[in-house]
Formats: sequence, structure tokens, C-alpha cells
Amino acid sequence: MKRALITGITGQDGFYLADYLLSLGYEVHGLARQTGLEYIRGNLLRDVPPELYQRCHLHAVSLDNLPGLYRLISQTPFDECYHLAASSFVGERLADGYQTIQNNIASTHYLLAALQEFQPGCRLYFAGTSEMFGRPSMAPQTEETPFMPRSAYGISKLAGYHLVRNYREAYGLFCGVGILYNHESPRRRPEFVTRKVSMAVARIALEGSGTIQLGNLKARRDWGYAPDYVKAMHAILNHDHPEDFVVATGVLHSVEELCEVAFSHVGLDWRKHVEVNTDFYRDEEAVPLTGCSAKIQRELGWRPETTFVEMVHRMVDADKALLKTGVVE
Ligand code: GDD
Repeated sequence: MKRALITGITGQDGFYLADYLLSLGYEVHGLARQTGLEYIRGNLLRDVPPELYQRCHLHAVSLDNLPGLYRLISQTPFDECYHLAASSFVGERLADGYQTIQNNIASTHYLLAALQEFQPGCRLYFAGTSEMFGRPSMAPQTEETPFMPRSAYGISKLAGYHLVRNYREAYGLFCGVGILYNHESPRRRPEFVTRKVSMAVARIALEGSGTIQLGNLKARRDWGYAPDYVKAMHAILNHDHPEDFVVATGVLHSVEELCEVAFSHVGLDWRKHVEVNTDFYRDEEAVPLTGCSAKIQRELGWRPETTFVEMVHRMVDADKALLKTGVVE
């Protein structure tokens, strides 16, 4: 039986990855802050199979707890480590991004150093992001597109990526990198636009009235479905050699289309419920963030399975069910 460690197991991707690895017969361990563990304990009340986290070995160790991290990695052998933990809100102002930059870079470095010291044979997956491209010069982006991050988060992830690449080249660690574009699900946190919309649609559908305030409705993203994307993470770590792979749908949709699909799913006209609030505006790219996943399709046989419309419908349905339980996040 293979044993995997997931940092950030309480997040959206950590949840779906744990579920997927358990289905493949892995023994799954997860690192989380104590507050993260309290969050999922509360969350056991809600939609997901409650036994999922009970089938994992959870460790209340944050990545800045060096003694805790080193103790775990020196005592338990892992075949694979998925490094997903990170502060990840792109909308944060650069001038406020100290913690994001410091924590995301330091945690990646601590983890790499611990693996190199105690478990150089453990494979490491690093969660890269389209935000490393930031303001790209071309679309779609590939593994060869120059990086140009434009947010604290993107800068921290690019620094983490260079650390990972250096450990791969200098010390021979098996470090696989997925450069993932936006990926969403009913477990997406509410500050991200897809979940913000699905929660509002569920609320408005149940209450019969209401509005939601959004930023730029013309903004476009390459949105995929998180449960599809965690399969790419596993495929990347189980490749013959460690490489970087873009993971994307290659299809762009606007926030306006998101609203149209979500509201029409409950029989409502989005125009009557959506208000624009420029406080939520960000600088938008002249060249859109959209990825070419030809390499991972060709070399690892991965491709997105769930369409944008299916994903949005699932998110709205899940939020309607959640609201009916009375358990609100
Ligand atoms: N959050 C938010 N709220 N975004 C809005 C809103 C709003 O009210 N109105 C319009 N948008 C636009 C944003 O300007 C952006 O163009 C798009 O909707 C998506 O924003 P987010 O859902 O916040 O995601 P993101 O693209 O900034 O970042 C996500 O995807 C990246 C790529 O995978 C995050 O998950 C990052 O951590 C991740 O790296």
C-alpha cells in the first residue's frame, strides 16, 4: 500500500485528492493547522461523506512548525507528498502580501529541506498556478511561456517553483509540478467568484429575491473542475520522471457567462439579480490566462472530463442542498 502526505488537506484540493488517493488504495496522511482541523470537524456535519477525513491520518502540524514537520517526516516514510498548502487569494493587494509571500515561500523551502534530509526517495508534487504567468505575453500559455507574476500570491508561487526546480536539479529529488488554472467545486471557498455566485444563486432561489454584487463581469477565466484536476496531480507524480505540466481546459468563460449559467439553472434571469460594484474590480489582463494542456494530454493521458456548465450546475445544486440543511459556512 502506498502512503501519501498532503499538506493543506482541509482545502478544496486536499479534500478531493484525499478522496481520490483513498479510492486508489493509498494510506493518506494530512497536515493542517489546528484551526483547519476544527473547520473540517464542523464540516463533517455537511454534505460530504463524513468518513472521508476519518479514513485519513490527520496531523495538526502547520508548515512553520519545524519540529513538528521534521518529526513527522523523519518518523513516517511516505511514497508521495502533495504540497497544496498556501495562502491563495489573488485579489489581495500587493502591499498587504507580506504573509502570503513569506509563508508560501518558507513553507515550501522547509518541506523540501525536510524531504531531502530524511526522505530523498519521496516524490513531491508542487502546486504551481497560472498566476505564475500573471500578465502573459501570449495565449494560450504552455510550459514554455515566460513567467510574469503580478500578485503577491503569484510571486510566492513562482519563488516556490524555482526552489522546487533547484532541489530537483541540484539534489535529484523527484519534484513534479502542475501549473493549474482555476479549478472550482462545491468545496471552493466563498471568496472565489464561482462559489460566491453559486451561493448567492442558491440563496436567491430559496428566498425568492435578492442580489449579488460582483466586479468585472467581462473578466474571463479558464475554469475547470477540481475533482478532475487532482487526478492530474497524481498522474504527474506517477510519471517516469519529474516535469512541469500545464493543467487547464483551454476554454475561456466570462463572469457574465458564469452568472447566466448559474441563474438560469434555477429559472432566474441573472440581469435582475447581479449588481456591479467596482470595489471588486481588479486590473484585468490584456492577454487572457488560458492554458494549453497538450503536453499532459499527450504524455500522461489526462484530460478534463467535466464541462463548465456541468460544474456550475453541480455547485448551485450543492449550495441549495447546503442551505436547506441550515449549516452555512
Ligand atoms: N473573487 C472575485 N469576486 N472575483 C471576481 C468578482 C468578485 O466579485 N467579480 C469578478 N471577478 C473576477 C476576477 O477579477 C477574476 O478575473 C475572476 O473573476 C476569478 O477570480 P477568483 O475566483 O477570485 O480567482 P482567481 O483567478 O483570482 O484565482 C484563482 O485561480 C488561480 C488559478 O488557478 C485562485 O484559486 C488562485 O489561488 C489560483 O492560483
